[in-house]
Amino acid sequence: MGDRYANFANSGMGRGVVKRLGLPDPPRLRRYQPGDPLTNGPVLLGAADGGRLAGPVGKLLEAAGVAVTETAGEGDKYAALVFDATGITDSTGLRALYDFFHPVARSGKTSGRVVVLGTPPESAASPREATAQRALEGLTRSIGKEFGRGITSQLVYVETGGETAVESTLRFLLSGRSAYVSGQVIRVGGGSAPAPADWDQPLAGKTALVTGAARGIGAAIARVLARDGAEVIALDVPGAGDALAAVANDVRGRALQLDLTAPDAPARLADRLTGLDIIVHNAGITRDKTIARMDESRWDSVLDVNLSSQERINDLLLERGLINAGGRIVGVASIAGIAGNRGQTNYATSKAGVIGLVESMAPVLAKRGITINAVAPGFIETAMTAKMPLFLREAGRRMNSLSQGGLPVDVAETISWFASPASATISGNVVRVCGQSLLGA
Ligand SMILES: NC(=O)c1ccc[n+]([C@@H]2O[C@H](COP(=O)([O-])OP(=O)(O)OC[C@H]3O[C@@H](n4cnc5c(N)ncnc54)[C@H](O)[C@@H]3O)[C@@H](O)[C@H]2O)c1
Repeated sequence: MGDRYANFANSGMGRGVVKRLGLPDPPRLRRYQPGDPLTNGPVLLGAADGGRLAGPVGKLLEAAGVAVTETAGEGDKYAALVFDATGITDSTGLRALYDFFHPVARSGKTSGRVVVLGTPPESAASPREATAQRALEGLTRSIGKEFGRGITSQLVYVETGGETAVESTLRFLLSGRSAYVSGQVIRVGGGSAPAPADWDQPLAGKTALVTGAARGIGAAIARVLARDGAEVIALDVPGAGDALAAVANDVRGRALQLDLTAPDAPARLADRLTGLDIIVHNAGITRDKTIARMDESRWDSVLDVNLSSQERINDLLLERGLINAGGRIVGVASIAGIAGNRGQTNYATSKAGVIGLVESMAPVLAKRGITINAVAPGFIETAMTAKMPLFLREAGRRMNSLSQGGLPVDVAETISWFASPASATISGNVVRVCGQSLLGA
Protein backbone atom coordinates (compact mmCIF):
# COMPACT_ATOMS: atom_id res chain seq x y z
CA MET A 1 0.00 0.00 0.00
CA GLY A 2 2.99 2.33 0.56
CA ASP A 3 3.82 4.94 -2.06
CA ARG A 4 7.35 3.78 -2.93
CA TYR A 5 7.90 6.53 -5.46
CA ALA A 6 7.12 9.23 -2.85
CA ASN A 7 9.53 7.59 -0.41
CA PHE A 8 12.21 7.53 -3.10
CA ALA A 9 11.57 11.16 -4.12
CA ASN A 10 12.01 12.23 -0.49
CA SER A 11 15.26 10.27 -0.02
CA GLY A 12 18.71 11.86 -0.28
CA MET A 13 19.43 10.27 -3.67
CA GLY A 14 15.87 10.62 -4.97
CA ARG A 15 15.73 14.39 -4.44
CA GLY A 16 18.49 14.95 -6.98
CA VAL A 17 17.06 12.52 -9.56
CA VAL A 18 13.56 14.02 -9.29
CA LYS A 19 14.92 17.55 -9.73
CA ARG A 20 17.20 16.71 -12.68
CA LEU A 21 14.54 14.80 -14.61
CA GLY A 22 11.69 17.16 -13.74
CA LEU A 23 9.65 14.27 -12.25
CA PRO A 24 6.63 14.74 -9.94
CA ASP A 25 7.87 15.87 -6.54
CA PRO A 26 5.50 14.70 -3.78
CA PRO A 27 6.28 16.66 -0.61
CA ARG A 28 5.81 15.16 2.84
CA LEU A 29 2.59 16.75 4.08
CA ARG A 30 2.18 18.22 7.55
CA ARG A 31 -0.62 16.26 9.22
CA TYR A 32 -2.28 17.09 12.51
CA GLN A 33 -1.14 15.43 15.72
CA PRO A 34 -2.95 16.20 19.00
CA GLY A 35 -1.17 19.02 20.78
CA ASP A 36 0.15 20.60 17.56
CA PRO A 37 -0.04 24.39 17.35
CA LEU A 38 -2.66 25.65 14.89
CA THR A 39 -0.02 26.84 12.39
CA ASN A 40 3.69 26.15 12.06
CA GLY A 41 4.62 29.82 11.92
CA PRO A 42 3.23 33.33 11.45
CA VAL A 43 0.26 34.23 9.26
CA LEU A 44 0.38 37.16 6.85
CA LEU A 45 -3.07 38.77 6.75
CA GLY A 46 -3.94 41.18 3.94
CA ALA A 47 -7.12 42.86 2.81
CA ALA A 48 -8.58 44.82 -0.07
CA ASP A 49 -9.80 48.24 1.05
CA GLY A 50 -13.16 48.06 2.79
CA GLY A 51 -12.97 44.34 3.62
CA ARG A 52 -15.26 43.25 6.49
CA LEU A 53 -13.41 40.09 7.56
CA ALA A 54 -9.74 40.98 8.16
CA GLY A 55 -10.54 42.64 11.51
CA PRO A 56 -12.53 39.81 13.12
CA VAL A 57 -10.31 37.13 11.52
CA GLY A 58 -7.12 38.77 12.82
CA LYS A 59 -8.66 38.88 16.31
CA LEU A 60 -9.78 35.27 16.33
CA LEU A 61 -6.44 34.02 15.02
CA GLU A 62 -4.55 35.96 17.68
CA ALA A 63 -6.90 34.62 20.34
CA ALA A 64 -6.05 31.14 19.02
CA GLY A 65 -2.36 31.83 19.68
CA VAL A 66 -1.34 32.51 16.07
CA ALA A 67 1.22 35.23 15.32
CA VAL A 68 -0.51 37.51 12.79
CA THR A 69 1.27 40.21 10.82
CA GLU A 70 -0.10 42.66 8.28
CA THR A 71 3.15 43.71 6.62
CA ALA A 72 5.48 41.30 4.89
CA GLY A 73 9.08 41.44 6.08
CA GLU A 74 12.02 40.94 3.71
CA GLY A 75 12.86 37.21 3.58
CA ASP A 76 10.19 36.21 6.13
CA LYS A 77 8.44 32.86 5.66
CA TYR A 78 4.77 32.36 6.44
CA ALA A 79 2.69 29.38 7.51
CA ALA A 80 -0.26 30.98 5.76
CA LEU A 81 -1.18 33.85 3.50
CA VAL A 82 -4.75 34.95 4.26
CA PHE A 83 -6.40 37.62 2.14
CA ASP A 84 -9.73 39.30 2.80
CA ALA A 85 -11.18 40.05 -0.65
CA THR A 86 -14.66 41.06 0.57
CA GLY A 87 -13.87 44.72 -0.14
CA ILE A 88 -13.58 44.06 -3.88
CA THR A 89 -16.75 45.34 -5.51
CA ASP A 90 -15.79 45.38 -9.17
CA SER A 91 -13.35 43.73 -11.56
CA THR A 92 -10.84 46.58 -11.51
CA GLY A 93 -10.51 46.00 -7.77
CA LEU A 94 -9.15 42.48 -8.44
CA ARG A 95 -5.77 44.15 -8.85
CA ALA A 96 -5.56 44.01 -5.03
CA LEU A 97 -5.00 40.24 -5.37
CA TYR A 98 -1.94 40.76 -7.56
CA ASP A 99 -0.61 43.45 -5.25
CA PHE A 100 -0.86 41.13 -2.23
CA PHE A 101 0.25 37.78 -3.70
CA HIS A 102 2.93 38.79 -6.21
CA PRO A 103 5.56 40.00 -3.70
CA VAL A 104 5.00 37.09 -1.27
CA ALA A 105 4.45 34.26 -3.75
CA ARG A 106 7.69 32.56 -2.67
CA SER A 107 7.25 33.24 1.04
CA GLY A 108 5.11 30.24 1.96
CA LYS A 109 6.55 27.55 4.21
CA THR A 110 6.39 23.91 3.14
CA SER A 111 2.82 22.61 3.76
CA GLY A 112 1.77 26.25 4.03
CA ARG A 113 -1.70 27.59 3.37
CA VAL A 114 -3.38 30.17 1.17
CA VAL A 115 -6.90 31.23 2.12
CA VAL A 116 -8.87 33.91 0.29
CA LEU A 117 -12.05 35.15 1.96
CA GLY A 118 -14.89 36.45 -0.17
CA THR A 119 -18.59 37.28 -0.25
CA PRO A 120 -20.82 34.62 -1.88
CA PRO A 121 -21.53 35.98 -5.39
CA GLU A 122 -25.23 35.17 -4.96
CA SER A 123 -25.36 37.55 -1.98
CA ALA A 124 -23.40 40.38 -3.60
CA ALA A 125 -25.00 43.81 -3.74
CA SER A 126 -24.57 44.27 -7.51
CA PRO A 127 -23.73 42.27 -10.66
CA ARG A 128 -20.31 43.98 -10.72
CA GLU A 129 -19.54 42.81 -7.20
CA ALA A 130 -20.86 39.30 -7.91
CA THR A 131 -18.62 39.10 -10.98
CA ALA A 132 -15.53 40.16 -9.06
CA GLN A 133 -16.25 37.77 -6.18
CA ARG A 134 -16.80 34.87 -8.60
CA ALA A 135 -13.43 35.67 -10.18
CA LEU A 136 -11.63 34.81 -6.93
CA GLU A 137 -12.02 31.11 -7.75
CA GLY A 138 -9.61 31.38 -10.67
CA LEU A 139 -6.90 32.84 -8.47
CA THR A 140 -7.17 30.34 -5.62
CA ARG A 141 -7.32 27.31 -7.90
CA SER A 142 -4.29 28.52 -9.88
CA ILE A 143 -2.24 29.21 -6.78
CA GLY A 144 -2.98 25.63 -5.67
CA LYS A 145 -1.33 24.49 -8.90
CA GLU A 146 1.58 26.95 -8.79
CA PHE A 147 2.96 27.13 -5.28
CA GLY A 148 3.99 23.46 -4.79
CA ARG A 149 5.74 22.11 -1.66
CA GLY A 150 2.48 20.93 -0.14
CA ILE A 151 0.99 24.43 -0.04
CA THR A 152 -2.78 24.28 -0.38
CA SER A 153 -5.11 27.05 -1.53
CA GLN A 154 -8.80 27.61 -0.85
CA LEU A 155 -11.55 30.16 -1.30
CA VAL A 156 -13.97 30.65 1.58
CA TYR A 157 -17.16 32.59 0.87
CA VAL A 158 -18.55 34.01 4.09
CA GLU A 159 -22.09 35.40 4.28
CA THR A 160 -22.56 38.71 6.06
CA GLY A 161 -23.04 37.81 9.72
CA GLY A 162 -20.67 34.83 9.51
CA GLU A 163 -17.65 36.81 10.69
CA THR A 164 -17.09 34.70 13.79
CA ALA A 165 -18.71 31.49 12.51
CA VAL A 166 -15.80 31.23 10.06
CA GLU A 167 -13.49 30.18 12.92
CA SER A 168 -13.99 26.39 12.64
CA THR A 169 -13.24 26.58 8.92
CA LEU A 170 -10.10 28.68 9.38
CA ARG A 171 -8.87 26.35 12.10
CA PHE A 172 -9.43 23.38 9.81
CA LEU A 173 -7.82 24.96 6.76
CA LEU A 174 -4.79 26.45 8.51
CA SER A 175 -3.98 23.30 10.48
CA GLY A 176 -2.49 19.98 9.38
CA ARG A 177 -6.04 18.56 9.40
CA SER A 178 -6.61 19.78 5.84
CA ALA A 179 -3.31 18.43 4.45
CA TYR A 180 -4.92 16.83 1.35
CA VAL A 181 -7.65 19.44 0.70
CA SER A 182 -6.78 21.98 -1.98
CA GLY A 183 -8.45 24.05 -4.68
CA GLN A 184 -11.79 24.05 -2.84
CA VAL A 185 -14.56 26.60 -2.55
CA ILE A 186 -16.28 26.55 0.83
CA ARG A 187 -19.40 28.44 1.86
CA VAL A 188 -19.91 29.59 5.45
CA GLY A 189 -23.37 30.93 6.26
CA GLY A 190 -24.26 33.92 8.39
CA GLY A 191 -25.27 33.52 12.01
CA SER A 192 -23.43 32.41 15.07
CA ALA A 193 -21.81 29.09 15.84
CA PRO A 194 -20.92 28.04 19.38
CA ALA A 195 -17.19 27.75 20.05
CA PRO A 196 -16.40 24.45 21.79
CA ALA A 197 -15.06 24.59 25.36
CA ASP A 198 -11.90 22.88 24.05
CA TRP A 199 -10.94 23.13 20.37
CA ASP A 200 -8.98 19.87 20.71
CA GLN A 201 -12.16 18.05 21.81
CA PRO A 202 -14.85 19.78 19.74
CA LEU A 203 -17.10 16.71 19.68
CA ALA A 204 -17.11 16.08 23.44
CA GLY A 205 -20.52 14.86 24.58
CA LYS A 206 -21.68 14.04 21.04
CA THR A 207 -22.82 10.63 19.79
CA ALA A 208 -21.77 9.69 16.26
CA LEU A 209 -22.83 6.83 14.00
CA VAL A 210 -20.30 5.81 11.32
CA THR A 211 -21.38 3.29 8.69
CA GLY A 212 -18.86 1.01 6.98
CA ALA A 213 -16.56 1.49 9.97
CA ALA A 214 -14.85 -1.92 9.99
CA ARG A 215 -11.99 -0.85 7.76
CA GLY A 216 -10.52 1.70 5.38
CA ILE A 217 -11.86 5.23 5.46
CA GLY A 218 -14.73 4.33 7.83
CA ALA A 219 -12.33 3.02 10.49
CA ALA A 220 -10.31 6.24 10.20
CA ILE A 221 -13.50 8.32 10.60
CA ALA A 222 -14.41 6.39 13.75
CA ARG A 223 -10.92 7.00 15.18
CA VAL A 224 -10.81 10.71 14.38
CA LEU A 225 -14.33 11.41 15.69
CA ALA A 226 -13.43 9.54 18.90
CA ARG A 227 -10.13 11.40 19.18
CA ASP A 228 -12.10 14.65 18.88
CA GLY A 229 -14.31 13.60 21.79
CA ALA A 230 -17.32 11.81 20.26
CA GLU A 231 -18.82 8.58 21.49
CA VAL A 232 -18.83 6.41 18.36
CA ILE A 233 -21.25 3.73 17.20
CA ALA A 234 -19.39 1.78 14.52
CA LEU A 235 -21.66 -0.01 12.05
CA ASP A 236 -20.81 -2.60 9.40
CA VAL A 237 -22.13 -5.83 7.87
CA PRO A 238 -22.26 -8.94 10.10
CA GLY A 239 -19.54 -10.52 7.91
CA ALA A 240 -17.09 -7.85 9.06
CA GLY A 241 -17.85 -8.54 12.74
CA ASP A 242 -14.30 -9.19 13.99
CA ALA A 243 -12.75 -6.17 12.29
CA LEU A 244 -15.69 -4.05 13.44
CA ALA A 245 -15.28 -5.17 17.05
CA ALA A 246 -11.58 -4.30 16.87
CA VAL A 247 -12.34 -0.76 15.67
CA ALA A 248 -15.12 -0.29 18.25
CA ASN A 249 -12.78 -1.46 21.06
CA ASP A 250 -10.04 0.78 19.81
CA VAL A 251 -12.26 3.86 20.02
CA ARG A 252 -14.05 2.67 23.20
CA GLY A 253 -17.28 2.79 21.25
CA ARG A 254 -20.11 0.41 20.36
CA ALA A 255 -20.21 -2.02 17.45
CA LEU A 256 -23.43 -2.47 15.50
CA GLN A 257 -23.69 -5.29 12.95
CA LEU A 258 -26.23 -4.46 10.30
CA ASP A 259 -26.62 -4.80 6.53
CA LEU A 260 -27.84 -1.33 5.55
CA THR A 261 -29.71 -2.69 2.55
CA ALA A 262 -31.90 -5.09 4.57
CA PRO A 263 -35.54 -4.01 4.30
CA ASP A 264 -35.83 -3.69 8.08
CA ALA A 265 -32.43 -1.94 8.51
CA PRO A 266 -33.78 1.58 9.20
CA ALA A 267 -36.21 0.27 11.81
CA ARG A 268 -33.62 -1.97 13.48
CA LEU A 269 -31.17 0.90 13.58
CA ALA A 270 -33.76 3.32 14.97
CA ASP A 271 -34.73 0.80 17.68
CA ARG A 272 -31.12 0.70 18.91
CA LEU A 273 -30.68 4.47 19.16
CA THR A 274 -31.76 7.06 21.69
CA GLY A 275 -30.58 10.10 19.70
CA LEU A 276 -27.72 10.93 17.38
CA ASP A 277 -25.73 14.12 16.99
CA ILE A 278 -23.62 12.99 14.03
CA ILE A 279 -24.31 10.48 11.28
CA VAL A 280 -21.65 9.67 8.70
CA HIS A 281 -22.86 7.68 5.69
CA ASN A 282 -19.54 6.16 4.67
CA ALA A 283 -20.43 2.58 3.68
CA GLY A 284 -20.03 2.16 -0.04
CA ILE A 285 -19.30 -0.45 -2.67
CA THR A 286 -18.07 -0.58 -6.26
CA ARG A 287 -19.20 -3.14 -8.89
CA ASP A 288 -17.39 -1.88 -11.99
CA LYS A 289 -18.31 -2.74 -15.61
CA THR A 290 -19.07 -0.57 -18.60
CA ILE A 291 -22.83 -0.09 -18.85
CA ALA A 292 -22.96 -2.32 -21.95
CA ARG A 293 -21.58 -5.23 -19.91
CA MET A 294 -23.20 -4.50 -16.59
CA ASP A 295 -25.81 -6.90 -15.24
CA GLU A 296 -28.72 -5.40 -13.35
CA SER A 297 -27.58 -6.69 -9.97
CA ARG A 298 -24.41 -4.57 -10.19
CA TRP A 299 -26.48 -1.49 -10.88
CA ASP A 300 -29.04 -2.21 -8.17
CA SER A 301 -26.62 -3.12 -5.38
CA VAL A 302 -24.38 -0.06 -5.87
CA LEU A 303 -27.31 2.36 -6.00
CA ASP A 304 -28.91 0.75 -2.97
CA VAL A 305 -25.83 0.71 -0.67
CA ASN A 306 -24.40 4.04 -1.76
CA LEU A 307 -27.56 6.12 -2.03
CA SER A 308 -31.05 4.71 -1.46
CA SER A 309 -30.28 3.10 1.92
CA GLN A 310 -29.00 6.47 3.18
CA GLU A 311 -32.23 8.17 2.16
CA ARG A 312 -34.33 5.51 3.91
CA ILE A 313 -32.26 5.78 7.09
CA ASN A 314 -32.24 9.59 7.16
CA ASP A 315 -35.98 9.67 6.61
CA LEU A 316 -36.84 7.24 9.40
CA LEU A 317 -34.40 8.74 11.92
CA LEU A 318 -35.80 12.20 11.19
CA GLU A 319 -39.37 10.95 11.39
CA ARG A 320 -38.71 9.41 14.80
CA GLY A 321 -36.84 12.51 16.04
CA LEU A 322 -33.63 10.55 16.52
CA ILE A 323 -31.34 13.17 14.99
CA ASN A 324 -30.87 15.78 17.69
CA ALA A 325 -31.20 19.52 17.10
CA GLY A 326 -27.75 20.73 16.07
CA GLY A 327 -27.33 17.39 14.30
CA ARG A 328 -24.80 16.79 11.54
CA ILE A 329 -25.30 14.49 8.54
CA VAL A 330 -22.20 13.87 6.44
CA GLY A 331 -22.12 11.88 3.19
CA VAL A 332 -19.16 10.35 1.41
CA ALA A 333 -19.32 11.05 -2.34
CA SER A 334 -16.37 10.65 -4.71
CA ILE A 335 -14.67 12.60 -7.47
CA ALA A 336 -16.15 9.90 -9.74
CA GLY A 337 -19.52 11.48 -8.91
CA ILE A 338 -18.21 14.80 -10.22
CA ALA A 339 -16.05 13.78 -13.20
CA GLY A 340 -17.65 10.43 -14.13
CA ASN A 341 -15.46 7.40 -14.69
CA ARG A 342 -15.27 4.70 -17.35
CA GLY A 343 -16.69 1.47 -15.97
CA GLN A 344 -18.44 3.23 -13.10
CA THR A 345 -21.81 4.43 -14.40
CA ASN A 346 -23.48 2.82 -11.37
CA TYR A 347 -20.97 4.15 -8.82
CA ALA A 348 -20.73 7.66 -10.32
CA THR A 349 -24.55 7.88 -10.46
CA SER A 350 -24.78 6.91 -6.80
CA LYS A 351 -22.08 9.39 -5.77
CA ALA A 352 -23.53 12.25 -7.84
CA GLY A 353 -26.77 11.33 -6.06
CA VAL A 354 -25.05 11.83 -2.69
CA ILE A 355 -24.21 15.35 -3.85
CA GLY A 356 -27.84 15.81 -4.89
CA LEU A 357 -28.97 14.61 -1.49
CA VAL A 358 -26.80 17.22 0.22
CA GLU A 359 -28.03 20.01 -2.03
CA SER A 360 -31.70 19.09 -1.82
CA MET A 361 -31.83 18.33 1.91
CA ALA A 362 -29.77 21.25 3.22
CA PRO A 363 -32.64 23.78 3.08
CA VAL A 364 -35.13 21.24 4.43
CA LEU A 365 -32.91 20.31 7.39
CA ALA A 366 -31.99 23.93 8.13
CA LYS A 367 -35.49 24.37 9.57
CA ARG A 368 -34.61 21.71 12.18
CA GLY A 369 -31.14 23.09 12.97
CA ILE A 370 -29.44 20.14 11.26
CA THR A 371 -26.65 20.51 8.69
CA ILE A 372 -25.83 18.16 5.81
CA ASN A 373 -22.56 18.17 3.85
CA ALA A 374 -20.40 15.70 1.98
CA VAL A 375 -16.78 14.95 1.30
CA ALA A 376 -15.73 13.80 -2.17
CA PRO A 377 -12.49 11.84 -1.84
CA GLY A 378 -10.08 11.48 -4.74
CA PHE A 379 -7.33 8.87 -4.72
CA ILE A 380 -7.02 7.62 -1.13
CA GLU A 381 -4.48 4.98 -0.11
CA THR A 382 -6.68 2.07 0.98
CA ALA A 383 -6.88 -1.68 0.41
CA MET A 384 -9.23 -0.86 -2.50
CA THR A 385 -6.79 1.43 -4.34
CA ALA A 386 -3.83 -0.90 -3.55
CA LYS A 387 -5.55 -3.48 -5.79
CA MET A 388 -5.74 -1.15 -8.81
CA PRO A 389 -3.56 -1.96 -11.85
CA LEU A 390 -0.13 -0.31 -11.47
CA PHE A 391 -0.53 2.26 -14.25
CA LEU A 392 -3.95 3.46 -13.08
CA ARG A 393 -2.74 3.56 -9.49
CA GLU A 394 0.30 5.67 -10.35
CA ALA A 395 -1.83 8.01 -12.50
CA GLY A 396 -4.30 8.41 -9.62
CA ARG A 397 -1.50 9.22 -7.21
CA ARG A 398 0.30 11.77 -9.35
CA MET A 399 -2.48 13.58 -11.25
CA ASN A 400 -3.10 16.15 -8.53
CA SER A 401 -1.40 19.26 -7.22
CA LEU A 402 0.24 17.39 -4.32
CA SER A 403 1.57 14.52 -6.53
CA GLN A 404 0.47 11.84 -4.07
CA GLY A 405 -2.55 9.92 -2.81
CA GLY A 406 -4.38 11.01 0.32
CA LEU A 407 -4.73 8.96 3.50
CA PRO A 408 -8.01 7.79 5.09
CA VAL A 409 -7.29 10.19 7.95
CA ASP A 410 -7.47 13.15 5.52
CA VAL A 411 -11.09 12.28 4.68
CA ALA A 412 -11.84 11.72 8.37
CA GLU A 413 -10.44 15.12 9.43
CA THR A 414 -12.65 16.87 6.88
CA ILE A 415 -15.70 15.03 8.22
CA SER A 416 -14.81 15.98 11.80
CA TRP A 417 -14.71 19.65 10.76
CA PHE A 418 -18.23 19.38 9.26
CA ALA A 419 -19.36 17.53 12.42
CA SER A 420 -18.16 20.20 14.84
CA PRO A 421 -20.76 22.26 16.75
CA ALA A 422 -18.67 25.24 15.62
CA SER A 423 -19.62 24.43 11.99
CA ALA A 424 -23.28 25.25 12.63
CA THR A 425 -23.55 27.59 9.64
CA ILE A 426 -21.91 25.22 7.16
CA SER A 427 -24.48 23.25 5.19
CA GLY A 428 -24.94 22.15 1.60
CA ASN A 429 -21.17 22.00 0.97
CA VAL A 430 -19.36 19.28 -0.96
CA VAL A 431 -15.64 19.46 -0.27
CA ARG A 432 -13.24 17.35 -2.27
CA VAL A 433 -10.40 15.62 -0.44
CA CYS A 434 -8.35 15.00 -3.54
CA GLY A 435 -5.15 17.07 -3.43
CA GLN A 436 -6.74 19.17 -6.21
CA SER A 437 -7.08 16.25 -8.59
CA LEU A 438 -7.17 17.05 -12.29
CA LEU A 439 -10.25 14.84 -12.57
CA GLY A 440 -13.48 16.79 -12.62
CA ALA A 441 -11.61 19.96 -11.78
N1 LIG B 1 -10.72 4.53 -1.36
C1 LIG B 1 -10.89 5.57 -2.16
O1 LIG B 1 -9.96 6.00 -2.84
C2 LIG B 1 -12.24 6.25 -2.24
C3 LIG B 1 -12.38 7.31 -3.14
C4 LIG B 1 -13.60 7.97 -3.23
C5 LIG B 1 -14.66 7.58 -2.42
N2 LIG B 1 -14.52 6.54 -1.57
C6 LIG B 1 -15.69 6.19 -0.74
O2 LIG B 1 -15.32 6.14 0.63
C7 LIG B 1 -16.12 5.20 1.33
C8 LIG B 1 -15.22 4.21 2.05
O3 LIG B 1 -14.35 3.62 1.09
P1 LIG B 1 -13.20 2.56 1.47
O4 LIG B 1 -12.16 2.67 0.44
O5 LIG B 1 -12.84 2.70 2.89
O6 LIG B 1 -14.02 1.19 1.20
P2 LIG B 1 -13.94 -0.23 1.91
O7 LIG B 1 -14.50 -1.22 0.96
O8 LIG B 1 -12.58 -0.48 2.47
O9 LIG B 1 -14.93 -0.06 3.16
C9 LIG B 1 -16.33 0.07 3.01
C10 LIG B 1 -17.02 -0.55 4.21
O10 LIG B 1 -18.44 -0.45 3.99
C11 LIG B 1 -19.03 -1.65 4.43
N3 LIG B 1 -20.30 -1.92 3.77
C12 LIG B 1 -20.50 -2.21 2.45
N4 LIG B 1 -21.79 -2.48 2.24
C13 LIG B 1 -22.43 -2.37 3.42
C14 LIG B 1 -23.78 -2.58 3.84
N5 LIG B 1 -24.73 -2.98 2.98
N6 LIG B 1 -24.08 -2.39 5.13
C15 LIG B 1 -23.11 -2.00 6.03
N7 LIG B 1 -21.83 -1.83 5.70
C16 LIG B 1 -21.49 -2.01 4.40
C17 LIG B 1 -17.99 -2.73 4.03
O11 LIG B 1 -18.20 -3.95 4.75
C18 LIG B 1 -16.69 -2.03 4.38
O12 LIG B 1 -16.25 -2.31 5.70
C19 LIG B 1 -17.02 4.55 0.27
O13 LIG B 1 -18.27 5.19 0.26
C20 LIG B 1 -16.26 4.82 -1.02
O14 LIG B 1 -17.12 4.81 -2.13
C21 LIG B 1 -13.33 5.86 -1.46
